[in-house]
Amino acid sequence: MAANSYQALEIGRVSPTRQSYPPCLAVIFGGAGDLSHRKLLPALYNLSLDGELPQNFGIVGFAIDDLNDESFRNFARDGVAKFSRQPLKDDAWARFSSRLHFHRGSFTDPGDYSHLKDRLELLDHEHATGSNRFYYFAIPPGFIDSCAAGLSGAGLVAPPNSGHPFARVVVEKPIGHDLASAVEINEMLARYFAESQIFRIDHYLGKETVENLMVLRFANAIFEPIWEARFIDHVQITVAEEEGVGTRALYYEHAGALRDMVQSHLLQVLCMIASEPPRTTHADSVRDAKLDVIRCLRQFSEEDVEKWVVRGQYDEGLVHGMAAKAYREEPNVAPDSRMETFVALRCWIDNWRWAGVPFYLRTGKRLPKRSSEIAIYFKNVPRILYNANPRAPLAPNMMTIRIQPDEGLSLHIMSKVPGAQVRLAPVAVDFHYKSTSPEAYETLLRDLIVGDQTLFMRRDTVEAAWHFIQPVLDSWITSYDEPKLYAAGSWGPLEAALMIAADGRTWRTL
Ligand code: BG6
Repeated sequence: MAANSYQALEIGRVSPTRQSYPPCLAVIFGGAGDLSHRKLLPALYNLSLDGELPQNFGIVGFAIDDLNDESFRNFARDGVAKFSRQPLKDDAWARFSSRLHFHRGSFTDPGDYSHLKDRLELLDHEHATGSNRFYYFAIPPGFIDSCAAGLSGAGLVAPPNSGHPFARVVVEKPIGHDLASAVEINEMLARYFAESQIFRIDHYLGKETVENLMVLRFANAIFEPIWEARFIDHVQITVAEEEGVGTRALYYEHAGALRDMVQSHLLQVLCMIASEPPRTTHADSVRDAKLDVIRCLRQFSEEDVEKWVVRGQYDEGLVHGMAAKAYREEPNVAPDSRMETFVALRCWIDNWRWAGVPFYLRTGKRLPKRSSEIAIYFKNVPRILYNANPRAPLAPNMMTIRIQPDEGLSLHIMSKVPGAQVRLAPVAVDFHYKSTSPEAYETLLRDLIVGDQTLFMRRDTVEAAWHFIQPVLDSWITSYDEPKLYAAGSWGPLEAALMIAADGRTWRTL
């Protein structure tokens, strides 16, 4: 079944007309870096193509790199040509590139912030942006403090106050590398910005299918009544990546899959699946509901970590028939690195709705394919009628929600095979999203401009997520165990399969 015709109802997150988008300047710290090149500039270009940028808008790259407006525009054009969802079109590019500027300066030199201020004032005037600005920190976490202090010291951060220009700041995940450092970063940000000015990005929340989880659950009558322990046996959340660590080892050697993926992306997805209905669709109601889920996650004991959290690291192997290196042989990885590139775990949400329903999470690099999905396994039908034969039990109903690629959902149900005999087979009722969905960064940048924080992480949620992860980090630091090796191109270490098998279940084959 394909159901791709929509009659769109605009509701929930702020849905302004273009004329009502507030004018503003986007100041990208680290404007000449990789995130800007691959994601931010292409996303802004797509918003411009789709008429989703304010009429009065300017973009300023700020970094120490030796660039000027012209070379920054070339850099942006290259990023758009390589990474944009929609193709580069000459006339659209000409309009977009006239908004792009570069200002050279150091993140740590207070004097450079007063030069930045002068330049921003000129550009405010040129683009009629009314001094509204957002500052996007596309920078290594070590610079956040000096950038926030520099902005504040130069008088570039006005307190939030309706009627005055806005100043927002955007920080990327991971916020910190453990609970203590996350609290420290949040404290530091709070010295300069109010919480309503801080937009913490977890780009999974901008993915179309992740956002659709709320709509699926709360805009349909048929799912919510069965969305609970009486009907659901267990839930599996998988975020599989085919790529290895690539060029990011300097970061990844201090992060690993637990911090990089589980603490943020997988827990955010879990929240969307498991939350109670929020009171309203407003940012804080939605974020309150998600926070409640994280706070209900059962803390791991030392024993639990040993038994129910598996960490793996990819060894050499074959990916699509091509030889792939071991993680320890990748550039900038220590030859004896103990960093995990794979995590599988079982967790419990101790509330009324989910009592007794295990949630299995797994994520890894160098798995056989890029595929992220949620699988909701419903309980078995009674062992009577069509399910009476113990040697041929019926497959339970299952709903899979594909985050990427091929975004959509399928409901797996039993059906009669056409013919004179009564034979049963599972069939899937499928829904595929239109492939032109905006990229996560487009959605998030648009929300940032209109000031909607629904899809951004609030301080308390980030800290609660670290609180849940912390016992695992602590236990791994003191343990002599190494991550279990798995061949690149396989579905992770054998221990991950044994873990779920101990509960009489198996990982879904993607
Ligand atoms: C990032 C992680 O947040 O998400 C990367 O730092 C990971 O390690 C990436 O590869 C995955 O994102 P996506 O959108 O490609 O699934």
